[in-house]
Amino acid sequence: MERLDDRKYITKLDKAKMRMLIGGLPGQFSAAGKSFQEANLSLRGRYTSVVVAGMGGSAIGGDLACARLYSDFPAPISVVRGYEVPSFVTKNTLLIAVSYSGNTEETLSAFQDGKKRGARVVCIASGGSLMEMAKSESLPFLTVPEGLPPRCAIGALTTYILLSIGLAFQVPGYAAELEDVADVLKNMRSALELDSPLKENPAKKIAGNLVHKLPFVYSSCRMTDPVAKRWSTQINENAKSLCHYSNLPELDHNEIVGWGIPREVSYASHVLFLDPGNLSDKLKRRLKVTKEIVSQVAEAETLTAGGTGDLARLFSLIFLGDYVSFYLAMLNGVDPTPVERIDLLKTKLREGQ
Ligand code: PA5
Repeated sequence: MERLDDRKYITKLDKAKMRMLIGGLPGQFSAAGKSFQEANLSLRGRYTSVVVAGMGGSAIGGDLACARLYSDFPAPISVVRGYEVPSFVTKNTLLIAVSYSGNTEETLSAFQDGKKRGARVVCIASGGSLMEMAKSESLPFLTVPEGLPPRCAIGALTTYILLSIGLAFQVPGYAAELEDVADVLKNMRSALELDSPLKENPAKKIAGNLVHKLPFVYSSCRMTDPVAKRWSTQINENAKSLCHYSNLPELDHNEIVGWGIPREVSYASHVLFLDPGNLSDKLKRRLKVTKEIVSQVAEAETLTAGGTGDLARLFSLIFLGDYVSFYLAMLNGVDPTPVERIDLLKTKLREGQ
């Protein structure tokens, strides 16, 4: 565990500087907010639905926007991870096609499908075919800085998605909320960074609890569902480890029964319950009781969000999780940045075309 305080070891293993990219998250909100203003998109129209199409690191911003807008937005919002958009998509749908590389086949296909159905499309990419098509067809387009792993652009992508939805539906205020997120994350950063030693650093401690374990990330409510997914995918991609995520209250009706068999898996698991910090009494009680039951066969701990607004709460847990995945990569002895299997898979699929 001491390796987590060893700057030389960490700097050598983290060849492409993932730690710096994670630490750069707070700066993405205002930079993307500024680029959004400069793009001066015209999205006027009468919309009845929103669809965000993307995969992996490009889709999660859509989930976060959905979580944020669930309780006060007038239209349904769906995130599509796949080749086709749902049949409800019409000319009254705002379709936001997001692909960091601009070349992801599922997203390109959903984009074409949405266009065929007459949807009003906004494209978000750092380059690739999506950017070329958006430019050649004069579609509204937002560009993200090149050269990042897609999962590291989460702040910029979420900003673009939320601001596009806000503009199209004429709902102001999301830009100010995003600025609050940046402030909360800036305040958290020094406690999570490398110079903060293991005995004081929550991210290093959690990574220490997860090493040689199968992490389970349990969302305590609808709001934290995309955060649990993000924790899981960050542990997959950065720490190169399996990770399972699920959500309350649903898991109380099925998955909870599965704890205990295989016995070896239960005892080798570590469960992280994500608490947004503003749970209703009902959900608080549910989290507590579920944790008591799971703790009979597995280690479990609860992680509580910081900040006061919904977006700040979500991103405070995401920021913590991103650092945890980084320190877990260090403990696993792997370079967090490369995702060789994703690259190999995409190359093989392209070769088959
Ligand atoms: O994290 C990753 O690299 C992946 O999850 C990608 O985001 C995913 O494969 C989609 O690629 P892109 O974001 O370029 O559309």
